[in-house]
Amino acid sequence: MSKTCKATVSAEESQATLDQGPLCQQAQGIGKQEPGGTTLKEAMNQLSLYSGTLRTELRSRIPSIGRSFALDQIHLFPEIRYMGSKRRLLPWIHGVLESLDFETALDPFSGSGAVAYLMKAMGRQTVSSDFLNFSATLGKALIENNTVHLDGPAIQSLLRTPRHAPSFIEDTFKGVFYNLEDLRFLDRMSWNIRQLETPHQRALAMAVLIRSCAKRQARGVFTISGNLSRYDDGRRDLRLSIKEHFFEQVRIFNEAVFSNGHHNRTECIDVFKLSPSDVDLVYLDPPYVPRHDDNCYVKRYHFLEGLSCYWQDLTIDYSTKVRKIPKRFTPFSYRRQAVDAFSRLFRHFQSSKIVLSYSSNGYPDLDQLTDILAKTKRNIQVFKRDHTYHFGNHCNVKRTAVEEYLIVGQ
Ligand SMILES: C[S@@+](CC[C@H](N)C(=O)[O-])C[C@H]1O[C@@H](n2cnc3c(N)ncnc32)[C@H](O)[C@@H]1O
Repeated sequence: MSKTCKATVSAEESQATLDQGPLCQQAQGIGKQEPGGTTLKEAMNQLSLYSGTLRTELRSRIPSIGRSFALDQIHLFPEIRYMGSKRRLLPWIHGVLESLDFETALDPFSGSGAVAYLMKAMGRQTVSSDFLNFSATLGKALIENNTVHLDGPAIQSLLRTPRHAPSFIEDTFKGVFYNLEDLRFLDRMSWNIRQLETPHQRALAMAVLIRSCAKRQARGVFTISGNLSRYDDGRRDLRLSIKEHFFEQVRIFNEAVFSNGHHNRTECIDVFKLSPSDVDLVYLDPPYVPRHDDNCYVKRYHFLEGLSCYWQDLTIDYSTKVRKIPKRFTPFSYRRQAVDAFSRLFRHFQSSKIVLSYSSNGYPDLDQLTDILAKTKRNIQVFKRDHTYHFGNHCNVKRTAVEEYLIVGQ
């Protein structure tokens, strides 16, 4: 086995390098206008017209363009409350990714899409993927989609009252989630969205609907149903109807759509079925075996998953109070299978640089993981920082303090 070099870089060290560099000083004055009147967005687009080496060289000569644009752009990302979301860690992840040389990137556990959005904003050709359809829908809307917005004609079609709107959602979820007005709106929108002209318009409108539903639901999870008044801490998100949320979110998602000048892609597929292809860098953020509780995404977000495809080909378990759908198997959730799953994962992507997000409360632990990674990568660096995950709302929030790692293997 090849010689392995392991290095640990603390958050302070990596942040210090980032904060003091000239790039950072330029980035902090995030002016929208480049000399000569070009906006940063335009400059990024122009930059990505050049290919290969020339592009890398240009980026290194005018690094502030990519850097400040990405840090600006991530503020427009419409975050959904997603278990394990890296949204709040994006500036840190950005700092680490900036130190690596890559043009093409893959995020095969994309979840909310936050990190794929960052890599797209960094001007890299980006592929996002997740085995859940609603995650992939978010990706199609904001990663793959470079240009399509929900414009006047699209909004008009969304506002239509169809003659024979289906009532599946109302029939299935009455008394379970939301009120009648919300459920009827969801049935109507589900129908109208399917009538939109282009796949990207459909994905964008569905992403808007998904975020509206997540905001309207107490704690953003669908494990709780019926009378949820005990979770009501007076927050606006719980007071607005899904319809009101929807039209507010249209503007937010329209603003979040941007082009980085590349042909980015989104897939909905199990990570081991993805062709490893020839991406320069793979960002890996799989679920990890939890010390307590469980990490099932379908259990928490089954309603959003069903909504994203109108429950087509999904079997609902009517014996459950919340109308569950079958869980998706992933080896990363099981203590007995996790070590083998990580070995397979690293081998699968052995020809790319690997950046793995991990945390101190996962199993296997950091030492075991770096040993596994050392079987396929020579040079391993570990970046660390403290982080607190919040889950729940003001009156019922669960906080978990962890050490967060970025493990880089090249
Ligand atoms: C920790 S989350 C990723 C969070 C994401 N980085 C973000 O910032 O929102 C893990 C994701 O992996 C997905 N996933 C789990 N097992 C998978 C598998 N075998 N193939 C593809 N996706 C999988 C889950 O659906 C979930 O969205």
